[in-house]
Amino acid sequence: MQTLPLFKDYDIEIPKTEGIKYTGSKLKLLPHILKLAKKVEAHTILDAFSGTTRVSQAFAKLGYQVISNDLAIWSKVFGQCYLLNQKQPSEYQELIDHLNNLPPKDGWFTENYGGNPNHGCAIQADGLKKPWQVHNTRKLDAIREEIETLQLSTVDKAVALTSLILALDQVDNTLGHFVSYLKNWSPRSYKTLQLEVPNVFISSKPNQVFCQDIFELIPEISVDLAYLDPPYGSNNEKMPPSRVRYASYYHLWKTICLYDQPHLFGKAKRRQDTSDKLAGSVFEEFRCNENGRFLAVEAIEKLIQKVPAHWVILSYSSGGRATAEELNAVLKRNGKVLDVINLDYKKNVMASMKWTNQWLQEVEKPNQEFVFLLEK
Ligand SMILES: C[S@@+](CC[C@H](N)C(=O)[O-])C[C@H]1O[C@@H](n2cnc3c(N)ncnc32)[C@H](O)[C@@H]1O
Repeated sequence: MQTLPLFKDYDIEIPKTEGIKYTGSKLKLLPHILKLAKKVEAHTILDAFSGTTRVSQAFAKLGYQVISNDLAIWSKVFGQCYLLNQKQPSEYQELIDHLNNLPPKDGWFTENYGGNPNHGCAIQADGLKKPWQVHNTRKLDAIREEIETLQLSTVDKAVALTSLILALDQVDNTLGHFVSYLKNWSPRSYKTLQLEVPNVFISSKPNQVFCQDIFELIPEISVDLAYLDPPYGSNNEKMPPSRVRYASYYHLWKTICLYDQPHLFGKAKRRQDTSDKLAGSVFEEFRCNENGRFLAVEAIEKLIQKVPAHWVILSYSSGGRATAEELNAVLKRNGKVLDVINLDYKKNVMASMKWTNQWLQEVEKPNQEFVFLLEK
């Protein structure tokens, strides 16, 4: 563990966490989120939009009791692996070695997502670019079939799938999502897929993991603190927040978890159930309602009001002054803002605001992330 002297009054332990490349991952913000949580007397924490589960992992390692939730099935699998595990990492070594040593084979993943090296060109005979080279999809086909055949317990299976996804993320031919693939094979796609035992740990508290729309989950639970990181707050220079569609970006991780050989469409061969018409979330909505209110901000307000927690930590990245002003009004209406942290994620510079409205002056600058601590 690394200790970061963030402020004079706090030394924060930053536990090591693990995850895939993910648009909106809060890896860089983690120390600041942990610092805000430490300011209040919280023991139970809801990570309502857990994604990579890095935030959940950190809270669980620090001894908090964690409820982790995300719409994405692969996030649930990661949560089961890291938050529900009761074994030492070494106890998984035999399983991981067994999976690594399987003879590669042709199968559904190779047919749809595997490509030949072609002297560096990832465009294949079918005219499509591919996310992995065929030597790795053949390993994927063999390993994924075996994980099913072994009939593992829920957590063992989650550990195997997490290990497989983390390994595939290391040899992909993408810019960090699966709505398009690179034209020329990335250097890492030539490497051989190699599974490792995930950095599992045994939590001191009974954590819980869910895969639900957050509005369906909140009537069922109660926590001291809720960490809210909706998609609305994501950032990616190449893709404005309004265009980030999580279900379509990471469709392949869903298919690997479900192992259901779904109907595919489009050049990236996405699952049909991740088409923009079917999938998506109110938090990804960038339109306004008939009264001119942003639908996403309206959803955030409803969530802050309904989430059964005394404190809320909310992540937000700059989406322009109009939404920021609306969000500021939402925060004021629904509690007391105890602290605001502003991070320039490009420069990696952090500032704590002197007064709570000050953040509105920073919002027009590029690459700004904000984290609010709210008492309801
Ligand atoms: C900004 S990302 C969270 C990133 C995460 N904090 C991390 O560090 O990896 C937003 C997440 O919200 C999830 N999501 C979108 N709409 C949701 C909903 N209605 N209920 C639950 N999760 C949702 C997406 O699947 C996505 O993983």
